[in-house]
Amino acid sequence: MIEATTRAELEQIAGRYPVARSGLLPMLHLLQSVQGHVSTEGIEACADILGLSTAEVTAVATFYTMYHDEPQGEHHIGVCINPGCAILGGDDVYAAVCSRLGIGHDQVTADGKFSLERIECQAACTHAPVMTVNWEFMDRVSPEAAVEVIDRLAAGEQVESTRGPKIGTWRDAERVLAGFDDGKSGDGPAADELMLAGLKRAKELGMKAPAVGTQKAGE
Ligand code: FES
Repeated sequence: MIEATTRAELEQIAGRYPVARSGLLPMLHLLQSVQGHVSTEGIEACADILGLSTAEVTAVATFYTMYHDEPQGEHHIGVCINPGCAILGGDDVYAAVCSRLGIGHDQVTADGKFSLERIECQAACTHAPVMTVNWEFMDRVSPEAAVEVIDRLAAGEQVESTRGPKIGTWRDAERVLAGFDDGKSGDGPAADELMLAGLKRAKELGMKAPAVGTQKAGE
C-alpha cells in the first residue's frame, strides 16, 4: 500500500517537470527509498499520477537495471567488472565480495543486510578498481579492503567513502536520487588531481572544444 505521504511526494516530483511523465525515473527511486523495491502498488500509483498505463510504467521500471522488483539489501554493493577495473583487480574484488557475502550478482543475503550487483563502468576509471556502497565510491579497492568494508557495515560501524562522505543506507541514497537533498552534497572533494589530469593536459596543449555550431558534417 502506498502511504499518503509517499503519494504526496510522488505528486511533488511529477510537478517539478513541464511534462509530468519526465518525473517517472525519480518517482521510481522514491518508491525504492520507501519500499526497498518497485512494487505493483507503486507502479499503479505512478501510472495514476502521470496518466500512463501500468504497462508503460512497468516497461520503464524493468528496462533500467537500477530498479528492482524484489526488496534490496540495507546496503547495496556494486563492483565494477568492466575492463578498466577488471585488469587492475576488479575481478578479484568481485570474487572476494561474492565469497564474503555468499551471494552473486543481483542477489540479496538471507538477513537482508546486503545486495550485490556487478556494475558497468562508473566513469571512475582513474580510481580503478572501484566498488560502490549505496553508490558512494570506494576507490582503488583491494579484495581485502572490500571485505573489511563489508565486515564493518555488518557490525553496524559507520563507514566513510574513500572520497569522504559518511555512508548511509541504500534507501537513503535512493531518496537523494529522487531529488530530495540530504545536505551532504558538499561532503568530500568535488574533484581530485587524477580526475582533473585530462583537463590539465588539454590546457597545457592549448586544446579547446570547438564552439557550438562550427563543426562541419563528418567531423
Ligand atoms: S571501468 Fe570501472 S569505473 Fe570505468
